[in-house]
Amino acid sequence: MRRGPVDSFLLRLTPGLQVIEGRGTLDLTAVVGARPGVEIPWAGATYRIVRPQLSDRLAHLRRRAQIVTPKDAAFLWYLAGVGPGSTVVEVGAGSGALTVLLAHAVGDAGHVISYDRRPDFRDVAERNVAAAGFASRVEFRLRPIGEQPFDLDPASAGAVIADVPAPWEIVPHAIPVLVPGGALVLYTPTYNQLEHAVRELRSHGFEETRSVELLERALHVGDGGTRPDFEMLGHTGFLTGSRWFGGRR
Ligand SMILES: C[S@@+](CC[C@H](N)C(=O)[O-])C[C@H]1O[C@@H](n2cnc3c(N)ncnc32)[C@H](O)[C@@H]1O
Repeated sequence: MRRGPVDSFLLRLTPGLQVIEGRGTLDLTAVVGARPGVEIPWAGATYRIVRPQLSDRLAHLRRRAQIVTPKDAAFLWYLAGVGPGSTVVEVGAGSGALTVLLAHAVGDAGHVISYDRRPDFRDVAERNVAAAGFASRVEFRLRPIGEQPFDLDPASAGAVIADVPAPWEIVPHAIPVLVPGGALVLYTPTYNQLEHAVRELRSHGFEETRSVELLERALHVGDGGTRPDFEMLGHTGFLTGSRWFGGRR
């Protein structure tokens, strides 16, 4: 439900009274089943009911851990080769931002298994994924990967994606769970983490390893005065994709 980008709410369109935190109550019974675009008066303003896009789902996340930005999340998704029906394993649920994007990508027939070692982060991510409407696509597991291996069937995942401080610890454990040709994708904020992680990928026989950094520069568009914004986010993280084909032959 939105009245412009800064006044929008992610709601389930169900009959009955809903409590909107900090704003009061709302009854959407009359518009259940209505076409997207229908308008409703509420709290002295007019709102439109529309289906949420991925950006709406991500914009309404409660943040606990540092989340991956959309530019990075989208390319992590590309490197992982995740699509409708995929099974993907995530290490480091954090606030669940990447989890929401992966759940969106795998669709109703796909499955995301998301690990975190901390129950408080797991709980935040689980709430965010449920609020985004993807609870049925995601399974959360509490486990410190690295210290412990994955509790998954052999060759059961098309991709493993890790956003954790020591991603090199994930590398040996990803091997048994990846299908041949599957991808291990790592997000590392510093060069030191990147180097350590890639050294580990190479020593374990991962192939087609490539690392990139994406810079996003917004444009200020005005008639006759279009130019880049003066400010940009200077650094987020490095993205590494790698494939498992069975190791050295
Ligand atoms: C930076 S956050 C991940 C943020 C997440 N990608 C997002 O977009 O919301 C890192 C998370 O990894 C978890 N973590 C760190 N090491 C881990 C490990 N070895 N196994 C499982 N979870 C781990 C932390 O508890 C934390 O929640």
